[in-house]
Amino acid sequence: MPYAVLQGLGTYLPTRRVTNDELAGLFDTSDEWITTRTGIKERCWAEPGQSTGDLATEAGRRALKSAGLDDGADVGLLVVATTTPDHPCPGTAPDVAARLGLANAAAYDISAVCSGFVYALEAAANAIQAGRVERALVIGAETYSTILSPNDRTTSVIFGDGAGAVVLSCGAADEPGRLLGFDLGSDGTGKDLIQIPAGGSRQRGSGLAAAEDDYYFTMQGKKVFAHAVHRMSDSSLALLKSVGWTPDQVGHLVGHQANLRILRAVAEQLGLDTDRAVTNIEKVGNTSAASIPLALADAAAAGAFQPGERMLLTAFGGGLTWGSAALTWPDITPV
Ligand code: ACO
Repeated sequence: MPYAVLQGLGTYLPTRRVTNDELAGLFDTSDEWITTRTGIKERCWAEPGQSTGDLATEAGRRALKSAGLDDGADVGLLVVATTTPDHPCPGTAPDVAARLGLANAAAYDISAVCSGFVYALEAAANAIQAGRVERALVIGAETYSTILSPNDRTTSVIFGDGAGAVVLSCGAADEPGRLLGFDLGSDGTGKDLIQIPAGGSRQRGSGLAAAEDDYYFTMQGKKVFAHAVHRMSDSSLALLKSVGWTPDQVGHLVGHQANLRILRAVAEQLGLDTDRAVTNIEKVGNTSAASIPLALADAAAAGAFQPGERMLLTAFGGGLTWGSAALTWPDITPV
């Protein structure tokens, strides 16, 4: 049976950095409020005209390079996880595949909001383990700056743009980098907690015009906070049980970078020291589907991980959705 192994990791951030002080000039907020409530100091926002597909393509190219591959490599599947596709139709992935020269690769988008990367990783790992493809590219990419309401200080200070990508390949059972298991779930009764109310068939089919703000991202922060801690903790524990690991065997926890307080609370629920919970939210904010690969790359570049160590990834997002992944860390250099 083939096993899915992480072979490369690449990221791309837009060059425009937006500090808390800059946002304090646009909204009734402050560096102090944003830092203490979220842990965020700055984030990147795309330049005008720069799309999710543009960020995804660059991150994908860098992931291929990290895996020792070039554009046009033999990749059978590309999955792009995003909340902010280039167009409602078609998907962003086929265009990214074409731009990377991945001729005839199966290519589709996954819409699971901040859990999208873990969902996409599971789909790609399954395709490899089922023998359908030998190599897959998984990209989480977002341009939330395009869906943030200029009237909503709460969401505008939290979200950032960026992209992260991994290459998965067929490998051996004992190879560092192997994906060992997943736990995924959803609860659609909470769909209103994180939403863009207008622009889809629910609003268009009603025949009613939408208010301008309904085209922007909305979030009920306090309720989402409680769900995020509960779902990421429970999902992580369920996965640890299914792969036969105890929390103290986990080298690093790489959680969706939603809020520093959420990450600390999840680590606490799992009984892990907070220094084992990877954080880079201070530099990039909440980048939704791009969050986990960006956090992985930052920590790996800083030499935080040892090849072969046990890693736990966990995410929570709109839907509501959640997901966790267990893997061992490969001997790779992120690009
Ligand atoms: N600057 C200053 N004050 C603010 C700001 C701001 N940017 N935003 C809100 N406030 C005010 C509120 O108006 C409120 O004022 P009031 O007490 O006078 O009414 C006060 O601050 C407290 O607001 P809360 O919403 O209670 O603040 P909280 O401590 O809950 O922090 C936050 C808000 C950061 C959004 C938090 O709830 C959070 O992180 N939620 C989870 C987000 C998350 O996990 N997202 C992941 C999923 S997202 C996805 O899937 C795309």
